[in-house]
Amino acid sequence: MALKFPIYAPSRYTDTNEPVKRPREFACFSYDHDHKFRQDDSSVKWYYPPSPGADLCTGYDRFIRHDDSIDEHLDSLLRTIATHEQQTGEAIDAQIVTWRGMLTKIMGAPFDNEEFEMNATLYRNCIFIEEHHGFKEKKRALESSRPPRRDGMSPKMMQYWGYKFETLSTIPRPWGETSRDYIESRDEEPVNNKEQYCSVVRTGFGNTVVCLGGEVDAIWDSKPETPGEPINWVELKTSAEIVTYNDQFSFDRKLMKYWIQSFLLGVPKIIVGFRTRDGILAKVEEFQTRSIPYAVQGRGLAKWDGNVCIRFTALFLEWLRLNIADDGVWRIRRGRGSDSIELFRVEEAGHGEIVTDDFMNWRIKL
Ligand code: A3P
Ligand code: MG
Ligand code: MG
Repeated sequence: MALKFPIYAPSRYTDTNEPVKRPREFACFSYDHDHKFRQDDSSVKWYYPPSPGADLCTGYDRFIRHDDSIDEHLDSLLRTIATHEQQTGEAIDAQIVTWRGMLTKIMGAPFDNEEFEMNATLYRNCIFIEEHHGFKEKKRALESSRPPRRDGMSPKMMQYWGYKFETLSTIPRPWGETSRDYIESRDEEPVNNKEQYCSVVRTGFGNTVVCLGGEVDAIWDSKPETPGEPINWVELKTSAEIVTYNDQFSFDRKLMKYWIQSFLLGVPKIIVGFRTRDGILAKVEEFQTRSIPYAVQGRGLAKWDGNVCIRFTALFLEWLRLNIADDGVWRIRRGRGSDSIELFRVEEAGHGEIVTDDFMNWRIKL
């Protein structure tokens, strides 16, 4: 039998504002250009503005694409947490451990129709949540069997634009250590999305302590000397140029996702590359993450409220902790447009493949 957490009318969540805890990075890891794990920050990129007029289609035939049909579970995140625990000699205090992407889906639920499926398991007083990979694959297969878009653009090319924009907007070393030649020849650099830098933060919702891992695109200046200080991360996005009233409405809806994603890791700045319909970079604009909800509310087009997203998530996580009180693997599911999130058990014992043996072997020693 499935338990249901209702996604009530958003007004249900506006009475109080949840005290917001600032996410603090306590660990990180990188994937190198072959997607090999590295317990360091070697894949951080520095932001350096791109030149408008660039064609985001350039180099598509040389795209080094990461094969994401392989289920990576929480492996790299757990490995990083274990390393951190080995250094400090104690277990982290989070009650929820997951990828940033999972909480992005939860936080957006009061205002979107997106379907999702996740697996969760309780291990040593902490709930570990991963994406249900089989569900994602099924969805993807369905999407690729759809008829082509009306404008003839291939979704794969449009996805490439996002990565190409990242390559055009970043450099692998700080400004002062990068040659003009490199900066000017970025258009010839192959685009490779196997390489990533991931930040691991401690944050909170209501009285739930959450540990999140997520990719960050670039840094503005440099990491502060003192651990836990805010970091000037930059999130990079591409979006269609805003021409009509309707474009502004769609963009304001998209801003909810951008805001949630950046809020969760404490990314203060989002840089959007606006492109023409066929992928020419037209304009680059900077957004302060914390100002986005006010700007969107001021325009009054798309109706979403950041405080509602936060409050909803706080209540949902509290409910999850109350109900996942036993061994086994649980499914967290929301159907398309459904007005509730369901929770039911799919395995009676064990932790599925969510918590790795390495992690459990380490924790036994602790
Ligand atoms: P854009 O967001 O500029 O389109 P992120 O924005 O999270 O850093 O992701 C970088 C790029 O990965 C995106 O660039 C997009 O091309 C691709 N991407 C991320 N999430 C996606 C999703 N759910 N579906 C399709 N493409 C995605
Ligand atoms: Mg990214
Ligand atoms: Mg990005």
